[in-house]
Amino acid sequence: MGNNSNRLFCSTTLVLFIITISSSPSYAQQPFRCSSAGATCNALVDYLTPNTTTLFAIRTLFSIRNLRTILGANNLPLSTPSSFPLPANHTIKIPFPCICNSGTGLSNRRPNYTVVPGDGLYHIAAEVFSGLVTYQEIQAVNNIRDPNLIEVGQRLWIPLPCSCDDVDGQRVVHYGHRVAPGSSVEGIAQQYNTSQDTLLRLNNLGSPQDLLAGAILDVPLRACSSRINNNSLDFPLLVPNDTYVFTATNCVMCRCDAAISWMLQCQPSQINSSCPAIRCEGAENFYLGNTTSSGCNRTTCAYAGYNSTIQTVVASDSTCPASDNPSAAVRLEGWRWNEVFIFVHMVLLCIHFVK
Ligand SMILES: *[C@@H]1O[C@H](CO)[C@@H](O)[C@H](O)[C@H]1NC(C)=O
Ligand SMILES: *[C@@H]1O[C@H](CO)[C@@H](O)[C@H](O)[C@H]1NC(C)=O
Ligand SMILES: *[C@@H]1O[C@H](CO)[C@@H](O)[C@H](O)[C@H]1NC(C)=O
Ligand SMILES: *[C@@H]1O[C@H](CO)[C@@H](O)[C@H](O)[C@H]1NC(C)=O
Ligand SMILES: *[C@@H]1O[C@H](CO)[C@@H](O)[C@H](O)[C@H]1NC(C)=O
Ligand SMILES: *[C@@H]1O[C@H](CO)[C@@H](O)[C@H](O)[C@H]1NC(C)=O
Ligand SMILES: *[C@@H]1O[C@H](CO)[C@@H](O)[C@H](O)[C@H]1NC(C)=O
Ligand SMILES: *[C@@H]1O[C@H](CO)[C@@H](O)[C@H](O)[C@H]1NC(C)=O
Ligand SMILES: *[C@@H]1O[C@H](CO)[C@@H](O)[C@H](O)[C@H]1NC(C)=O
Ligand SMILES: *[C@@H]1O[C@H](CO)[C@@H](O)[C@H](O)[C@H]1NC(C)=O
Repeated sequence: MGNNSNRLFCSTTLVLFIITISSSPSYAQQPFRCSSAGATCNALVDYLTPNTTTLFAIRTLFSIRNLRTILGANNLPLSTPSSFPLPANHTIKIPFPCICNSGTGLSNRRPNYTVVPGDGLYHIAAEVFSGLVTYQEIQAVNNIRDPNLIEVGQRLWIPLPCSCDDVDGQRVVHYGHRVAPGSSVEGIAQQYNTSQDTLLRLNNLGSPQDLLAGAILDVPLRACSSRINNNSLDFPLLVPNDTYVFTATNCVMCRCDAAISWMLQCQPSQINSSCPAIRCEGAENFYLGNTTSSGCNRTTCAYAGYNSTIQTVVASDSTCPASDNPSAAVRLEGWRWNEVFIFVHMVLLCIHFVK
């Protein structure tokens, strides 16, 4: 009888242990390095939906003011409704403001999460926010003395990892990329037009084999080049490949497409009806976003920034095609050695008890 209940206890514990380590992120996420003290910028991070949800619920969870900010970061059509459903285990990019503080980057006072009945800090960190933070990080930034004592209705700042640092002398958008099982550092580098060495260096990885599935990797995204003046209120307006943003009091929409020679493409937004017509100075009937082509040379009425007015500039660029080559993938190791160690000891302990 005693042996049977021991056996039941042991097998239940082992099963629970396996479920816990295989469903939780496979390592404790570290904040990203951010050395430009006090700097602020926009950043992105991958959120893995724990349950079936909607864009509206995600906008609320991450304290994002406008749905179109999420739509733009994911290149979803502007007409996508907020009731748009997302299945469980789906990855979506979350745009948020970042601030550098004591060598690391954190989301700047957002998301602002409200504790609901039944919540615990671990549940909020590991499940609600899919392991983007640890409960200790939430505890630290909110000055919570006892992690077991949080109150329903209490507001918590969830410090997402990010950075505002330049990479290899370039301004970039730091993207917290969730490592999918089976991906490699080289594959991720090629997908996001960066190098393996840069990824290893930014993430303090000794070798490509140190990559773990489920980890949030700091990936620097190249942004489209633009003609925006440095005295513009939205300078430097970094828009990464395959995303769009609204700027200049929602009068201008800018999109980045690497295939259009990495030049930021801006046009009148059509979401704010009180915007003026935006014409290029010195050119008749040449409005923001208008283009003329000659071979692979193009002339565009480009966006140049805003303060009290919206500025434009006549810009020339080349759309001559560039080449790309595909990559090979290396398999990932999902288990950590200390997990294997604990597992082996639990098995040994159980054998001992059942005897
Ligand atoms: C979640 O999605 C990933 C691929 O994105 C897949 O490898 C994994 O098996 C999925 N997990 C579950 C529990 O569905
Ligand atoms: C997902 O749904 C289950 C069942 O409704 C619930 O127990 C769990 O708390 C949910 N997880 C999150 C992170 O909301
Ligand atoms: C969170 O929101 C509440 C209510 O809007 C506000 O009082 C509080 O200051 C916010 N907290 C942070 C950390 O921004
Ligand atoms: C840009 O984004 C498109 C669409 O996601 C993708 O096919 C392309 O490979 C990306 N190019 C670069 C250089 O990142
Ligand atoms: C980025 O992509 C361009 C082509 O679009 C290529 O010439 C360049 O070598 C790539 N950079 C890196 C670091 O892979
Ligand atoms: C702003 O740009 C102008 C020229 O476009 C340059 O002379 C000036 O040094 C720049 N200022 C800063 C702070 O970068
Ligand atoms: C619409 O544009 C006008 C003129 O630029 C601006 O004053 C106003 O704030 C904008 N409204 C919104 C909701 O962005
Ligand atoms: C120029 O831009 C204006 C404003 O966006 C647009 O209405 C017009 O159709 C464009 N003209 C051409 C030739 O593309
Ligand atoms: C494109 O512009 C370059 C110089 O900027 C010029 O040498 C070339 O002839 C132009 N090509 C066409 C097709 O206009
Ligand atoms: C607005 O921008 C223009 C063009 O960049 C600049 O000449 C002007 O000084 C700026 N005005 C203010 C108030 O910053």
